[in-house]
Amino acid sequence: MVDLPSDYTEIHQYARDVVAFMHKPLSVQITGGIHVNDAFVYDAWSQLPSEWTAWWEPLSNPQDAQKDLINSLRKEPEARQHDLQGRPDSLSEWLDRIRNLSLDREQFVLPEEIPHVEVPEILASRMATKKLAEVKAGARYINHVCKANNITRVVDIGSGQGYLSLTLAAACDLKVLAIDGSAKQIAGSKAAAEQAGLTEGDQITHLTRFVTGTDELATEISTWAKGEKCLLTGLHACGSLSEHMIRLSTTTPCISHIAVVGCCYNHITPFSPSNPTGFPISTFMRSHNLNLSTSALITGCQAPTNWIHNPNSIFGRKHFYRAVLEKLLFDKNLVADGARPVWGIRNGDLRSFHTYTSRALSSLNLTIGKDISEREIAEYEKAYAGRSAETAILWTLSVLLCRVVESVIVLDRVFYLQEKGMEEVGVLPVFEYRESPRNLMVVGRKGEGV
Ligand SMILES: C[S@@+](CC[C@H](N)C(=O)[O-])C[C@H]1O[C@@H](n2cnc3c(N)ncnc32)[C@H](O)[C@@H]1O
Repeated sequence: MVDLPSDYTEIHQYARDVVAFMHKPLSVQITGGIHVNDAFVYDAWSQLPSEWTAWWEPLSNPQDAQKDLINSLRKEPEARQHDLQGRPDSLSEWLDRIRNLSLDREQFVLPEEIPHVEVPEILASRMATKKLAEVKAGARYINHVCKANNITRVVDIGSGQGYLSLTLAAACDLKVLAIDGSAKQIAGSKAAAEQAGLTEGDQITHLTRFVTGTDELATEISTWAKGEKCLLTGLHACGSLSEHMIRLSTTTPCISHIAVVGCCYNHITPFSPSNPTGFPISTFMRSHNLNLSTSALITGCQAPTNWIHNPNSIFGRKHFYRAVLEKLLFDKNLVADGARPVWGIRNGDLRSFHTYTSRALSSLNLTIGKDISEREIAEYEKAYAGRSAETAILWTLSVLLCRVVESVIVLDRVFYLQEKGMEEVGVLPVFEYRESPRNLMVVGRKGEGV
Protein backbone atom coordinates (compact mmCIF):
# COMPACT_ATOMS: atom_id res chain seq x y z
CA MET A 1 0.00 0.00 0.00
CA VAL A 2 3.00 2.32 0.11
CA ASP A 3 3.79 3.30 -3.45
CA LEU A 4 7.58 3.21 -3.28
CA PRO A 5 9.85 5.30 -5.51
CA SER A 6 10.64 3.41 -8.72
CA ASP A 7 14.16 2.42 -7.61
CA TYR A 8 12.72 0.30 -4.77
CA THR A 9 10.68 -2.83 -4.29
CA GLU A 10 11.20 -3.31 -0.54
CA ILE A 11 10.12 -0.70 2.00
CA HIS A 12 12.80 -1.37 4.62
CA GLN A 13 15.59 -1.06 2.07
CA TYR A 14 14.03 2.19 0.91
CA ALA A 15 13.76 3.43 4.50
CA ARG A 16 17.37 2.53 5.26
CA ASP A 17 18.52 4.50 2.21
CA VAL A 18 16.40 7.53 3.15
CA VAL A 19 17.78 7.54 6.68
CA ALA A 20 21.35 7.13 5.40
CA PHE A 21 20.81 10.04 3.00
CA MET A 22 19.46 12.29 5.77
CA HIS A 23 22.47 11.41 7.93
CA LYS A 24 25.02 12.27 5.21
CA PRO A 25 27.22 15.16 6.38
CA LEU A 26 26.02 17.35 3.51
CA SER A 27 22.31 16.71 4.30
CA VAL A 28 22.96 17.43 7.98
CA GLN A 29 24.82 20.63 7.13
CA ILE A 30 22.18 22.04 4.78
CA THR A 31 19.23 21.11 7.00
CA GLY A 32 20.47 23.01 10.01
CA GLY A 33 23.94 21.67 10.85
CA ILE A 34 24.89 25.16 9.76
CA HIS A 35 21.70 27.20 9.75
CA VAL A 36 21.37 29.61 6.82
CA ASN A 37 21.29 32.41 9.40
CA ASP A 38 24.81 31.37 10.42
CA ALA A 39 26.07 31.04 6.86
CA PHE A 40 28.71 33.77 7.30
CA VAL A 41 29.56 32.91 10.89
CA TYR A 42 30.63 29.38 9.93
CA ASP A 43 31.33 30.02 6.24
CA ALA A 44 28.77 27.45 5.13
CA TRP A 45 29.45 28.18 1.47
CA SER A 46 33.03 26.97 1.63
CA GLN A 47 31.82 23.68 3.10
CA LEU A 48 29.72 22.82 0.07
CA PRO A 49 31.39 20.69 -2.62
CA SER A 50 33.83 23.02 -4.36
CA GLU A 51 32.75 22.01 -7.89
CA TRP A 52 29.19 23.12 -7.06
CA THR A 53 30.18 26.53 -5.71
CA ALA A 54 32.64 27.05 -8.56
CA TRP A 55 29.80 26.44 -11.01
CA TRP A 56 27.33 28.74 -9.24
CA GLU A 57 29.70 31.63 -8.56
CA PRO A 58 29.96 33.00 -12.13
CA LEU A 59 26.16 33.02 -12.58
CA SER A 60 24.98 36.60 -12.79
CA ASN A 61 21.65 35.89 -11.12
CA PRO A 62 21.24 33.46 -8.19
CA GLN A 63 17.59 33.02 -9.14
CA ASP A 64 18.77 31.04 -12.19
CA ALA A 65 20.53 28.61 -9.88
CA GLN A 66 17.50 28.45 -7.57
CA LYS A 67 15.15 27.76 -10.49
CA ASP A 68 17.49 25.07 -11.78
CA LEU A 69 17.59 23.38 -8.37
CA ILE A 70 13.84 23.55 -7.82
CA ASN A 71 13.01 22.31 -11.31
CA SER A 72 15.20 19.31 -10.62
CA LEU A 73 12.58 18.12 -8.10
CA ARG A 74 9.89 17.85 -10.75
CA LYS A 75 9.24 14.42 -12.10
CA GLU A 76 8.10 15.46 -15.58
CA PRO A 77 11.09 15.33 -17.99
CA GLU A 78 9.79 18.53 -19.72
CA ALA A 79 10.39 20.44 -16.49
CA ARG A 80 14.08 19.77 -16.86
CA GLN A 81 14.41 21.00 -20.43
CA HIS A 82 15.63 24.30 -19.04
CA ASP A 83 18.35 22.85 -16.81
CA LEU A 84 21.33 25.17 -16.67
CA GLN A 85 24.18 24.01 -18.88
CA GLY A 86 27.34 22.58 -17.41
CA ARG A 87 25.94 21.48 -14.06
CA PRO A 88 28.55 19.32 -12.28
CA ASP A 89 27.74 15.60 -12.43
CA SER A 90 28.00 15.28 -8.66
CA LEU A 91 25.28 17.93 -8.22
CA SER A 92 23.03 16.26 -10.81
CA GLU A 93 23.51 12.95 -9.01
CA TRP A 94 22.61 14.58 -5.69
CA LEU A 95 19.45 16.07 -7.19
CA ASP A 96 18.50 12.75 -8.82
CA ARG A 97 18.97 11.06 -5.48
CA ILE A 98 16.61 13.51 -3.77
CA ARG A 99 13.97 12.89 -6.43
CA ASN A 100 14.40 9.14 -6.32
CA LEU A 101 14.16 9.00 -2.52
CA SER A 102 10.90 10.94 -2.31
CA LEU A 103 7.49 9.32 -2.07
CA ASP A 104 5.23 10.11 -4.99
CA ARG A 105 2.88 13.06 -4.45
CA GLU A 106 0.59 12.63 -7.45
CA GLN A 107 -2.98 12.71 -6.16
CA PHE A 108 -4.48 9.29 -5.56
CA VAL A 109 -7.71 8.99 -7.53
CA LEU A 110 -10.55 6.80 -6.30
CA PRO A 111 -12.43 4.85 -8.99
CA GLU A 112 -15.35 6.83 -10.43
CA GLU A 113 -17.92 4.37 -9.03
CA ILE A 114 -17.01 5.46 -5.47
CA PRO A 115 -19.58 8.17 -4.66
CA HIS A 116 -18.44 11.77 -4.35
CA VAL A 117 -19.48 13.69 -1.23
CA GLU A 118 -21.73 16.69 -1.76
CA VAL A 119 -20.77 19.24 0.88
CA PRO A 120 -23.96 21.06 1.95
CA GLU A 121 -23.90 24.68 0.77
CA ILE A 122 -24.24 26.01 4.32
CA LEU A 123 -20.97 24.28 5.21
CA ALA A 124 -19.21 24.81 1.87
CA SER A 125 -19.81 28.57 2.04
CA ARG A 126 -17.62 28.75 5.18
CA MET A 127 -14.64 27.11 3.49
CA ALA A 128 -11.88 28.57 1.34
CA THR A 129 -11.46 26.87 -2.05
CA LYS A 130 -8.42 24.92 -0.84
CA LYS A 131 -10.19 23.70 2.30
CA LEU A 132 -13.28 22.70 0.34
CA ALA A 133 -11.18 20.58 -2.03
CA GLU A 134 -9.43 18.93 0.93
CA VAL A 135 -12.72 18.21 2.69
CA LYS A 136 -14.30 16.77 -0.46
CA ALA A 137 -11.34 14.48 -1.12
CA GLY A 138 -10.88 13.50 2.53
CA ALA A 139 -14.59 12.91 3.18
CA ARG A 140 -14.96 10.84 0.02
CA TYR A 141 -12.15 8.50 1.02
CA ILE A 142 -13.28 8.24 4.67
CA ASN A 143 -16.90 7.65 3.69
CA HIS A 144 -15.79 4.96 1.26
CA VAL A 145 -13.76 3.13 3.95
CA CYS A 146 -16.62 3.43 6.43
CA LYS A 147 -19.26 2.12 4.04
CA ALA A 148 -17.00 -0.73 2.89
CA ASN A 149 -16.39 -1.81 6.49
CA ASN A 150 -19.78 -1.15 8.11
CA ILE A 151 -18.37 1.68 10.20
CA THR A 152 -20.91 4.28 11.31
CA ARG A 153 -18.74 6.35 13.64
CA VAL A 154 -15.80 8.66 13.00
CA VAL A 155 -13.53 10.36 15.53
CA ASP A 156 -12.02 13.54 14.05
CA ILE A 157 -9.13 14.83 16.16
CA GLY A 158 -7.77 18.33 15.62
CA SER A 159 -11.19 18.99 14.11
CA GLY A 160 -10.76 22.78 14.14
CA GLN A 161 -13.81 24.58 12.78
CA GLY A 162 -15.37 21.21 12.01
CA TYR A 163 -15.16 21.42 8.24
CA LEU A 164 -14.57 17.69 7.85
CA SER A 165 -16.53 16.54 10.93
CA LEU A 166 -19.69 18.39 9.98
CA THR A 167 -19.46 17.28 6.35
CA LEU A 168 -19.18 13.63 7.41
CA ALA A 169 -22.12 14.04 9.79
CA ALA A 170 -24.32 15.99 7.37
CA ALA A 171 -23.52 14.35 4.04
CA CYS A 172 -22.37 10.81 4.85
CA ASP A 173 -24.77 9.75 7.58
CA LEU A 174 -21.90 9.12 10.00
CA LYS A 175 -21.90 9.91 13.72
CA VAL A 176 -18.90 12.08 14.47
CA LEU A 177 -16.94 12.88 17.61
CA ALA A 178 -15.09 16.16 16.92
CA ILE A 179 -12.16 16.74 19.28
CA ASP A 180 -9.94 19.78 19.42
CA GLY A 181 -7.62 21.27 22.02
CA SER A 182 -8.88 24.78 21.39
CA ALA A 183 -12.16 25.80 23.04
CA LYS A 184 -12.46 28.57 20.44
CA GLN A 185 -12.27 26.11 17.54
CA ILE A 186 -14.83 23.86 19.19
CA ALA A 187 -17.15 26.84 19.76
CA GLY A 188 -16.90 27.75 16.06
CA SER A 189 -17.61 24.18 15.04
CA LYS A 190 -20.59 23.93 17.40
CA ALA A 191 -22.10 27.13 16.02
CA ALA A 192 -21.72 25.84 12.46
CA ALA A 193 -23.25 22.48 13.44
CA GLU A 194 -26.27 24.28 14.82
CA GLN A 195 -26.61 26.35 11.65
CA ALA A 196 -26.43 23.18 9.59
CA GLY A 197 -29.20 21.63 11.70
CA LEU A 198 -27.05 18.84 13.14
CA THR A 199 -28.07 17.43 16.51
CA GLU A 200 -25.38 17.81 19.17
CA GLY A 201 -24.86 14.58 21.09
CA ASP A 202 -26.28 12.48 18.28
CA GLN A 203 -25.07 13.26 14.74
CA ILE A 204 -22.19 15.32 16.08
CA THR A 205 -20.56 15.42 19.50
CA HIS A 206 -17.94 18.02 20.39
CA LEU A 207 -15.19 17.60 22.93
CA THR A 208 -12.49 20.06 23.96
CA ARG A 209 -9.40 18.02 24.78
CA PHE A 210 -5.74 18.75 24.21
CA VAL A 211 -4.41 15.38 23.12
CA THR A 212 -1.05 14.28 24.48
CA GLY A 213 0.84 11.03 24.35
CA THR A 214 -0.32 10.11 27.81
CA ASP A 215 -3.96 11.14 28.07
CA GLU A 216 -7.01 9.11 28.94
CA LEU A 217 -8.87 9.92 25.77
CA ALA A 218 -9.22 6.25 24.84
CA THR A 219 -11.82 5.76 27.59
CA GLU A 220 -13.85 8.79 26.51
CA ILE A 221 -13.83 7.63 22.89
CA SER A 222 -14.92 4.13 23.90
CA THR A 223 -17.79 5.50 26.01
CA TRP A 224 -18.97 7.61 23.08
CA ALA A 225 -18.65 4.69 20.63
CA LYS A 226 -21.03 2.50 22.67
CA GLY A 227 -19.28 -0.66 21.56
CA GLU A 228 -19.38 0.19 17.84
CA LYS A 229 -16.24 0.35 15.73
CA CYS A 230 -14.89 3.71 14.61
CA LEU A 231 -12.52 5.26 12.11
CA LEU A 232 -10.06 7.77 13.55
CA THR A 233 -9.16 10.69 11.32
CA GLY A 234 -7.49 14.08 11.33
CA LEU A 235 -6.87 16.49 8.47
CA HIS A 236 -3.64 18.35 9.04
CA ALA A 237 -3.15 17.10 12.56
CA CYS A 238 -0.17 19.26 13.43
CA GLY A 239 3.19 18.19 14.76
CA SER A 240 3.10 15.42 17.33
CA LEU A 241 -0.71 15.28 17.28
CA SER A 242 -0.59 12.87 14.31
CA GLU A 243 1.77 10.64 16.28
CA HIS A 244 -0.49 10.68 19.35
CA MET A 245 -3.39 9.70 17.10
CA ILE A 246 -1.43 6.88 15.53
CA ARG A 247 -0.71 5.53 19.01
CA LEU A 248 -4.30 6.02 20.09
CA SER A 249 -5.53 4.03 17.10
CA THR A 250 -3.52 1.02 18.25
CA THR A 251 -4.54 1.22 21.92
CA THR A 252 -8.24 2.07 21.67
CA PRO A 253 -10.16 -1.16 21.05
CA CYS A 254 -13.13 0.44 19.25
CA ILE A 255 -10.92 2.15 16.65
CA SER A 256 -10.64 -0.20 13.70
CA HIS A 257 -9.26 2.18 11.04
CA ILE A 258 -7.07 5.25 10.88
CA ALA A 259 -6.68 7.88 8.16
CA VAL A 260 -4.55 10.85 9.21
CA VAL A 261 -2.81 13.66 7.34
CA GLY A 262 -0.06 15.49 9.21
CA CYS A 263 1.41 18.97 8.89
CA CYS A 264 3.59 21.50 10.79
CA TYR A 265 6.39 19.01 11.35
CA ASN A 266 8.34 21.70 13.19
CA HIS A 267 5.97 21.08 16.13
CA ILE A 268 7.07 17.46 16.40
CA THR A 269 8.89 16.88 19.67
CA PRO A 270 11.95 14.63 19.57
CA PHE A 271 12.30 11.36 21.42
CA SER A 272 14.37 11.57 24.61
CA PRO A 273 14.36 9.82 27.99
CA SER A 274 12.10 12.60 29.30
CA ASN A 275 9.88 12.44 26.17
CA PRO A 276 9.49 8.71 25.49
CA THR A 277 6.63 9.28 23.02
CA GLY A 278 8.72 11.64 20.87
CA PHE A 279 9.89 11.34 17.26
CA PRO A 280 10.74 8.92 15.80
CA ILE A 281 7.99 6.69 17.13
CA SER A 282 8.75 3.41 15.35
CA THR A 283 11.18 0.81 16.61
CA PHE A 284 12.61 0.63 13.09
CA MET A 285 13.52 4.32 12.92
CA ARG A 286 14.72 4.40 16.52
CA SER A 287 16.94 1.40 15.92
CA HIS A 288 18.38 3.21 12.89
CA ASN A 289 18.99 6.27 15.09
CA LEU A 290 16.93 8.55 12.88
CA ASN A 291 17.72 12.04 14.04
CA LEU A 292 16.31 15.14 12.37
CA SER A 293 17.03 18.62 13.71
CA THR A 294 14.23 21.15 14.14
CA SER A 295 15.53 22.91 11.03
CA ALA A 296 15.27 19.67 9.08
CA LEU A 297 11.69 19.21 10.31
CA ILE A 298 10.90 22.78 9.21
CA THR A 299 12.27 21.85 5.79
CA GLY A 300 9.58 19.16 5.64
CA CYS A 301 6.95 21.93 5.71
CA GLN A 302 8.21 23.53 2.48
CA ALA A 303 7.00 23.04 -1.08
CA PRO A 304 9.44 24.91 -3.34
CA THR A 305 7.89 23.58 -6.55
CA ASN A 306 4.77 25.54 -5.57
CA TRP A 307 6.67 28.81 -5.20
CA ILE A 308 5.62 31.41 -7.72
CA HIS A 309 8.64 32.78 -9.54
CA ASN A 310 8.92 36.51 -8.98
CA PRO A 311 12.09 38.09 -10.39
CA ASN A 312 11.52 41.18 -8.19
CA SER A 313 11.02 39.26 -4.97
CA ILE A 314 12.83 40.70 -1.97
CA PHE A 315 12.26 37.50 0.02
CA GLY A 316 15.88 36.39 -0.42
CA ARG A 317 17.05 39.53 1.38
CA LYS A 318 15.57 38.20 4.61
CA HIS A 319 18.09 35.39 4.76
CA PHE A 320 20.93 37.51 3.46
CA TYR A 321 20.47 40.44 5.85
CA ARG A 322 19.93 38.08 8.75
CA ALA A 323 23.13 36.20 7.95
CA VAL A 324 25.16 39.42 7.69
CA LEU A 325 23.75 40.78 10.93
CA GLU A 326 24.26 37.44 12.72
CA LYS A 327 27.91 37.66 11.69
CA LEU A 328 28.21 41.21 13.02
CA LEU A 329 26.54 40.26 16.31
CA PHE A 330 28.71 37.15 16.56
CA ASP A 331 31.91 39.09 15.94
CA LYS A 332 30.90 41.59 18.62
CA ASN A 333 29.89 38.81 21.00
CA LEU A 334 26.44 40.33 21.33
CA VAL A 335 24.23 37.23 20.96
CA ALA A 336 24.82 33.92 22.67
CA ASP A 337 25.77 31.27 20.11
CA GLY A 338 22.73 29.17 19.18
CA ALA A 339 20.17 31.75 20.33
CA ARG A 340 17.41 32.26 17.75
CA PRO A 341 15.48 35.32 18.87
CA VAL A 342 12.51 36.51 16.83
CA TRP A 343 13.40 39.84 15.32
CA GLY A 344 9.92 40.98 14.29
CA ILE A 345 11.08 41.93 10.80
CA ARG A 346 8.43 43.36 8.46
CA ASN A 347 8.64 43.54 4.68
CA GLY A 348 9.26 47.31 4.85
CA ASP A 349 12.39 46.66 6.93
CA LEU A 350 13.94 44.90 3.94
CA ARG A 351 14.37 48.22 2.13
CA SER A 352 18.00 48.35 3.16
CA PHE A 353 20.45 46.63 5.46
CA HIS A 354 20.34 49.68 7.69
CA THR A 355 16.54 49.64 8.18
CA TYR A 356 16.69 45.89 8.72
CA THR A 357 19.41 46.28 11.34
CA SER A 358 17.52 49.06 13.14
CA ARG A 359 14.43 46.88 13.51
CA ALA A 360 16.38 43.80 14.58
CA LEU A 361 18.49 45.65 17.13
CA SER A 362 15.44 47.26 18.71
CA SER A 363 13.89 43.77 19.10
CA LEU A 364 17.11 42.67 20.79
CA ASN A 365 17.17 45.73 23.06
CA LEU A 366 20.42 46.85 21.44
CA THR A 367 21.11 50.38 20.28
CA ILE A 368 22.81 51.78 17.20
CA GLY A 369 25.51 54.13 18.38
CA LYS A 370 25.97 52.31 21.68
CA ASP A 371 26.19 48.56 20.97
CA ILE A 372 26.90 48.77 17.24
CA SER A 373 28.15 51.83 15.41
CA GLU A 374 26.90 53.27 12.13
CA ARG A 375 30.37 52.67 10.73
CA GLU A 376 30.24 48.94 11.60
CA ILE A 377 26.86 48.55 9.91
CA ALA A 378 28.21 50.21 6.75
CA GLU A 379 31.40 48.14 6.82
CA TYR A 380 29.59 44.81 7.12
CA GLU A 381 27.17 45.76 4.39
CA LYS A 382 30.11 46.55 2.12
CA ALA A 383 32.11 43.47 3.10
CA TYR A 384 29.25 41.09 2.28
CA ALA A 385 27.87 42.93 -0.76
CA GLY A 386 27.79 40.45 -3.62
CA ARG A 387 27.40 37.40 -1.37
CA SER A 388 23.59 37.26 -1.29
CA ALA A 389 23.73 34.39 -3.80
CA GLU A 390 25.30 32.24 -1.09
CA THR A 391 22.38 32.52 1.33
CA ALA A 392 19.85 32.22 -1.52
CA ILE A 393 21.39 28.99 -2.78
CA LEU A 394 22.02 27.57 0.71
CA TRP A 395 18.37 28.15 1.60
CA THR A 396 17.20 26.54 -1.63
CA LEU A 397 19.48 23.54 -1.11
CA SER A 398 17.93 22.99 2.31
CA VAL A 399 14.30 23.19 1.16
CA LEU A 400 15.04 20.81 -1.72
CA LEU A 401 15.09 18.08 0.92
CA CYS A 402 11.46 18.77 1.86
CA ARG A 403 10.00 15.66 0.25
CA VAL A 404 12.72 13.38 1.56
CA VAL A 405 12.11 14.72 5.08
CA GLU A 406 8.37 14.26 4.74
CA SER A 407 8.88 10.76 3.34
CA VAL A 408 10.96 9.71 6.33
CA ILE A 409 8.41 11.15 8.79
CA VAL A 410 5.59 9.30 7.08
CA LEU A 411 7.59 6.06 6.89
CA ASP A 412 8.12 6.27 10.65
CA ARG A 413 4.34 6.41 11.15
CA VAL A 414 3.79 3.54 8.73
CA PHE A 415 6.33 1.37 10.54
CA TYR A 416 4.80 2.15 13.93
CA LEU A 417 1.38 0.98 12.75
CA GLN A 418 2.85 -2.14 11.16
CA GLU A 419 4.88 -2.94 14.27
CA LYS A 420 1.66 -2.77 16.31
CA GLY A 421 -0.02 -5.29 14.02
CA MET A 422 -2.09 -2.93 11.87
CA GLU A 423 -2.80 -4.21 8.37
CA GLU A 424 -3.20 -2.59 4.97
CA VAL A 425 -1.01 0.22 6.24
CA GLY A 426 -0.38 2.68 3.48
CA VAL A 427 0.25 6.22 2.37
CA LEU A 428 -2.19 7.95 0.04
CA PRO A 429 -1.55 11.38 -1.49
CA VAL A 430 -5.17 12.42 -1.00
CA PHE A 431 -4.98 16.05 -2.10
CA GLU A 432 -3.70 17.81 -5.17
CA TYR A 433 -0.08 18.63 -4.24
CA ARG A 434 -0.02 22.00 -6.02
CA GLU A 435 -2.92 23.20 -3.83
CA SER A 436 -2.24 21.25 -0.64
CA PRO A 437 1.37 20.10 -0.39
CA ARG A 438 0.80 18.37 2.94
CA ASN A 439 -1.15 15.68 1.14
CA LEU A 440 0.10 12.37 2.52
CA MET A 441 -2.58 10.43 4.38
CA VAL A 442 -1.37 7.53 6.52
CA VAL A 443 -4.00 4.79 6.60
CA GLY A 444 -4.33 1.44 8.31
CA ARG A 445 -6.76 -1.19 9.53
CA LYS A 446 -6.54 -3.13 12.75
CA GLY A 447 -5.63 -6.76 12.19
CA GLU A 448 -7.69 -9.58 13.68
CA GLY A 449 -5.50 -10.14 16.72
CA VAL A 450 -5.02 -6.47 17.65
C1 LIG B 1 -4.14 22.72 11.10
S1 LIG B 1 -5.57 22.72 12.08
C2 LIG B 1 -6.61 21.62 11.17
C3 LIG B 1 -8.05 21.78 11.52
C4 LIG B 1 -9.01 20.89 10.74
N1 LIG B 1 -8.71 19.49 10.85
C5 LIG B 1 -9.07 21.30 9.30
O1 LIG B 1 -8.64 20.56 8.43
O2 LIG B 1 -9.55 22.40 9.03
C6 LIG B 1 -5.07 21.76 13.46
C7 LIG B 1 -6.06 21.73 14.61
O3 LIG B 1 -5.56 20.83 15.57
C8 LIG B 1 -5.73 21.37 16.86
N2 LIG B 1 -4.68 20.76 17.69
C9 LIG B 1 -3.34 20.87 17.54
N3 LIG B 1 -2.70 20.12 18.44
C10 LIG B 1 -3.66 19.52 19.19
C11 LIG B 1 -3.62 18.61 20.26
N4 LIG B 1 -2.47 18.15 20.74
N5 LIG B 1 -4.79 18.19 20.78
C12 LIG B 1 -5.97 18.61 20.27
N6 LIG B 1 -6.06 19.48 19.24
C13 LIG B 1 -4.92 19.93 18.71
C14 LIG B 1 -5.63 22.86 16.69
O4 LIG B 1 -6.32 23.54 17.72
C15 LIG B 1 -6.26 23.05 15.31
O5 LIG B 1 -7.63 23.32 15.42
